[in-house]
Amino acid sequence: MALVTVAELTRAAAEGGYAVGAFNLNNMEILQAVIAAAEEERSPVILQASQGGLKYAGIDYIAAMARVAAENASVPVALNLDHGTSFEQAMVCIRKGFSAVMIDGSQLPFEENIALVKRVADVAHAVGVSVEAELGKIGGTEDDIVVAEQDATMTNPDEAAEFVERAQPDLLAVAIGTAHGVYKGEPRIDFKRLEEIKKRVDIPLVLHGASGVPDEAIRKACQLGISKINIDTELRVAFTQAVRNVLEAAPNEIDPRKILGPAREAMQKVVQEKMRLFGSSGRA
Ligand code: G3H
Ligand code: ZN
Repeated sequence: MALVTVAELTRAAAEGGYAVGAFNLNNMEILQAVIAAAEEERSPVILQASQGGLKYAGIDYIAAMARVAAENASVPVALNLDHGTSFEQAMVCIRKGFSAVMIDGSQLPFEENIALVKRVADVAHAVGVSVEAELGKIGGTEDDIVVAEQDATMTNPDEAAEFVERAQPDLLAVAIGTAHGVYKGEPRIDFKRLEEIKKRVDIPLVLHGASGVPDEAIRKACQLGISKINIDTELRVAFTQAVRNVLEAAPNEIDPRKILGPAREAMQKVVQEKMRLFGSSGRA
């Protein structure tokens, strides 16, 4: 089937009390790993491209790979722009066939973030594309986006209500203590804050920086109303570890298929585990 929107997948998730995984797409092996996992688990799935992913693979390859994957898959697949940086970039992605865009105005003052998201949402909604926004600043590093620990700020629940009403996004990414990249210690998630946001906001909520968050915390986040969970770092770790293992065992190996094949399998395993953890298995 054709790509579906993230809004459609996550509205069903919010009603069903589970979350849909969003996995970062950079190359064919990642794509195949994620889609194979989704089919094995009978799970809906979100593919997404970060700034680094777009630079590395090129927007046309990302869009074409995801379209082919969705058309051939037996489960619903969405393609989202992850941490979009401008109105113009969101428009290009829509034009290229993305079914969803995130416009990340979290570094902007409140009013400017609202204005940017509203501007994107007005156009995106007119052509059936869903929009994710972010309020508060999620710490850590993802590609070009670096937020130092001391600059990370939690989402204010009252502001979240006003933000959603005025900017009209379909999903809201919340800053509740997670961070992008590899954690130094155990993340401390502010569940009370999540509960307060959930009470005031009636659109699906998104958890970024979910790699390395303990399973129990993820389960609780899903119970408290997280409907989309982003995973990138854990795929990178699985990919790299598998490649290292192959090359350590066979330093003279020169066949890319024998190096990348095990990496693809390792990532598929991670994605399947996440789908079971998020409760999306069996929902497609
Ligand atoms: O937008 C992408 C995700 O938030 C990635 O988070 O670095 O914990 O995998 P991660
Ligand atoms: Zn993120």
